[in-house]
Amino acid sequence: MPIKMLTLEDVELEGKRVFLRVDINTPIHPETGKLMEQTRLEEAALTIRDLSKSKVVVASHQGRVGRSDYTSLEAHAKILQEILGRPVQFIPDVFGPNALSEIDSLAVGGVLVLDNLRFTAEENHEYKPADAEKTFLVRRIVSHVDACVLDAFSTAHRSSPTIVGFAGLVPTSAGRTVGRELRMLDRIVAVEKGPYVTVLGGAKVSDRLEAIDALIANKRADKVLLSGVVGLVFLKAAGKLRGEIGIEGEQKFTIKARQLMDDDPERFGLPIDVAIDVDGKRKEVEPLAILGQAKVMDIGAKTVERYSRFIKGAGTVFMSGPPGAFEYEEFSNGTEGLLRAMASSLGTTIISGGHLSTALRKYGIHDQIDHISTAGGALVQYLAGKRLPLIDALERAADKWGSSGVNAIR
Ligand code: 3PG
Repeated sequence: MPIKMLTLEDVELEGKRVFLRVDINTPIHPETGKLMEQTRLEEAALTIRDLSKSKVVVASHQGRVGRSDYTSLEAHAKILQEILGRPVQFIPDVFGPNALSEIDSLAVGGVLVLDNLRFTAEENHEYKPADAEKTFLVRRIVSHVDACVLDAFSTAHRSSPTIVGFAGLVPTSAGRTVGRELRMLDRIVAVEKGPYVTVLGGAKVSDRLEAIDALIANKRADKVLLSGVVGLVFLKAAGKLRGEIGIEGEQKFTIKARQLMDDDPERFGLPIDVAIDVDGKRKEVEPLAILGQAKVMDIGAKTVERYSRFIKGAGTVFMSGPPGAFEYEEFSNGTEGLLRAMASSLGTTIISGGHLSTALRKYGIHDQIDHISTAGGALVQYLAGKRLPLIDALERAADKWGSSGVNAIR
């Protein structure tokens, strides 16, 4: 069903101060501290460009408290400046006096990036809209802006203050990323068919387990092909991997994986071979042959072949998280192999997240996929048929500001 929301064209934004909530949360290299790709920054730039006659306050979270990717947005602002080709200001503050006075002195065409929203306590919690409106974060910022643009599709599943708190207070419209994602997903949901194959990799085990639950509940995961760290958890739960994987929450995850497989063992595909790192070189072995603390870096050739058959025979395939450490040439076979299978599948193909999008570009098969989404968890929730707080906020805003957008802006 089409979503009722305002677009950038529906609200008079010229000369106005616009709070632009994007999601430029990006994987950070744990050793160098550098951003590993810039897909979400490129997406955000599309909306910022279309707001060139406004005064734009860019806001985003980055990482999660306590994790190595929980960093400032200073480097993001520099990259955004390069992408946009015009000055982007950064302020190491979110809603303190310095940030507010920089917002006040923005000129038309100016772009100011606030620091990581999660540096504030309130942004780390989820709220009902009426309570979000009362947070200090929203109350302080809202009195210095005229309008809000919500463009953080990949954070659409979090009812944090900056996602749900502005829509009732200032005219709020959807940015280009939200528009593009919803248009594409609407089309896909209208034509897609089973069997539904889900291919999950990467290191965010708890997110992947949640995704499996949600997709199974919505009958969107007839087959779940596992790789990456989440694949190791399932291998361990199945008794096909010895020793510790060495991740936080390992025991809890393994128990959950065991339960899922007990409920329906046929649903899950586990790696039959993996590639380990032996002095920087790739060596493919059966998981059970791994003794001690070997570093598993990729899935092996037999697994790629087996998974590719399922991918090619699917009606709809959804892939999230890379199967291996594709940033190292030696360990990119799994990621390349499965992405090529996606590209040649006759089914509807959806790929989630910046890592895989970067890999697709690297292999030059970017345009052979039906939809490449910037989102991870939010996309899963959407595909699983859940209501997303950001979309609710846009619908409320359309009801409240729809007919009076221009006049309502201060
Ligand atoms: C994501 O990368 O999925 C979004 O930025 C949301 O991040 P979160 O899962 O830490 O809320």
